[in-house]
Amino acid sequence: MRILVTGAAGFIGFSLSNYLLKNNHKVFGIDNFDEYYSIPLKKKRLKILNKSKNFIFNKIDIKNKKKLKHFFKRKKIDTIINLAAQAGVRHSFEKPLKYINVNILGFLNLIEVAKDNNIKKFIYASSSSVYGENNNFPLKESENLNPKNIYAVSKKLNEKIAEMQQKFGLTSFVGLRFFTVYGEWGRPDMFMMKLFKSHMTNKIFHLNNYGNHLRDFTYIGDVVKAVGKLIKKKFKKHEIFNICSNNPVNIYDIVKNFNKRYPVKVKLTKIHKADILKTHGSNRKLNKNISKIKYSNFYDTFYKTFDWYKKNKIYKL
Ligand SMILES: NC(=O)c1ccc[n+]([C@@H]2O[C@H](COP(=O)([O-])OP(=O)(O)OC[C@H]3O[C@@H](n4cnc5c(N)ncnc54)[C@H](O)[C@@H]3O)[C@@H](O)[C@H]2O)c1
Repeated sequence: MRILVTGAAGFIGFSLSNYLLKNNHKVFGIDNFDEYYSIPLKKKRLKILNKSKNFIFNKIDIKNKKKLKHFFKRKKIDTIINLAAQAGVRHSFEKPLKYINVNILGFLNLIEVAKDNNIKKFIYASSSSVYGENNNFPLKESENLNPKNIYAVSKKLNEKIAEMQQKFGLTSFVGLRFFTVYGEWGRPDMFMMKLFKSHMTNKIFHLNNYGNHLRDFTYIGDVVKAVGKLIKKKFKKHEIFNICSNNPVNIYDIVKNFNKRYPVKVKLTKIHKADILKTHGSNRKLNKNISKIKYSNFYDTFYKTFDWYKKNKIYKL
């Protein structure tokens, strides 16, 4: 297949592109090298993808519709996977407008170009944060949505837009509600990479809400397999899937476990207003629609990720 991955220099975009290339797809990657976090890290990811002759990269901002239109010419792309976004819950309190511009206007630009080019399938990233504070665990896709911040609102609106567009166009939309994805090449603004960095640099690690959070951590290796299977499936209507391991882990327990082997100076802090106490999704719908994935063991992949982090000196980037 000929697949466009937006946000290809990002954590999930890079990992998925790498997986698709290994599975003999042609991948067109675009990214604007946004400055939200380390550009050298994004460039390092891209260097790996560029080794494949089936990968073609273009530096494009999805806010720039003119460039997007031009890019699509003669590419014969059949599937779009939109992973370009301003991610991060906390940052949405500092830069709310950026979330509207990239996650909503950029998203709409892509949809319009997709329609103009008769793209058959449009897969896009949503987020577990659309559920907000909801205790009906494990959360099913049919639950009420109660977003608590602009980031989550932008993702909920993506889902609404896709739902409406599906009714009018030829394109088939699939939304992915990712639950705390972790693993090699992970995002430096997320808990795990911050913990690793504190150990490697001997700096204080701020443990939010005294570690009293549970997250349905989902390993990147499992995520790319699931998305790889969804790409091949045909759906008659707009579908949304939780991409989760259905296995919430307590953050305090992780820090304690890590600290026993690798000392970290931990400072306990109060809860941040943006944070949800617990995430725990149901992956029943996903498992019913694709051949079952054997989800990775959390601590095995957690330490595997740390080994990779140390070996590649990621804290220096
Ligand atoms: N990682 C997670 O745990 C998680 C959880 C829920 C949802 N998501 C969603 O999944 C998607 C991918 O997340 P990620 O963790 O890989 O984030 P990421 O920040 O690593 O990747 C996003 C990429 O998009 C690029 N980008 C940003 N603005 C752009 C623009 N205007 N034009 C082109 N490229 C742009 C960035 O440079 C970055 O490389 C995002 O939509 C995110 O909201 C991620």
